Amino acid sequence: MANAALKTQAAQLTVHTGISGDDRLEIAKRLGVVLADSYQLFIKTQGVHWNVAGPLFYSIHNLTEEHYNNLFKAVDELAERIRALGSKAPASYTKYGELSAIEDHDEPASAAEMVEMLAKDHETVCRSLRVAIEFCEGKDDFVTADMMTERLAWHEEAIWMLRASLAE
Ligand SMILES: [Fe+2]
Repeated sequence: MANAALKTQAAQLTVHTGISGDDRLEIAKRLGVVLADSYQLFIKTQGVHWNVAGPLFYSIHNLTEEHYNNLFKAVDELAERIRALGSKAPASYTKYGELSAIEDHDEPASAAEMVEMLAKDHETVCRSLRVAIEFCEGKDDFVTADMMTERLAWHEEAIWMLRASLAE
C-alpha cells in the first residue's frame, strides 16, 4: 500500500511538458552556471558596496546596493526554474566556484578599478547567457529562454550604469 502510494507520487513528479528529459537536464545544467555566475557576482557586488571609498562613494555604494538586491532575487528565480525542470539546484560555495566563470580575487584598490572589475564580470555573464539562450530556444524551452533574455537585458543595463558612474 505504502509502495503504491510512493509510485503514484513519483509519477506525479515526472515532468511531461514537451521537452525531453535529456534536454531538461542539459538546460538545468546551463541554468546552474548562470545561477553560479549570479551568486559570485552578488558577493563581489556586495563587497564593492561595503569597501568602496573616495569621491564616488555615494553613487557607487547606492548603485551596487540596487544591483546586489536584483542579483539576490534573480538567484532564487533561477534556482526555482531548475527545480521546475526536474533537477536539483546547486547550493554551495564550492559548487558555485566550480561552475562559475567569474573569478574570485582580492578587491582592487580604487573605486574605478572596482567598478571596471564588476563591469567585466557582468560582460562574462552576458556572454554565457547569450549561448544558453540560443540553446534553450533550440530545445523549445521558451520559458527559460525568456527568463535568461530578461537577465541578459538587465546585465547589459548594469554594465552601462557602472561605466557611466565613472564618466567625467
Ligand atoms: Fe548596505
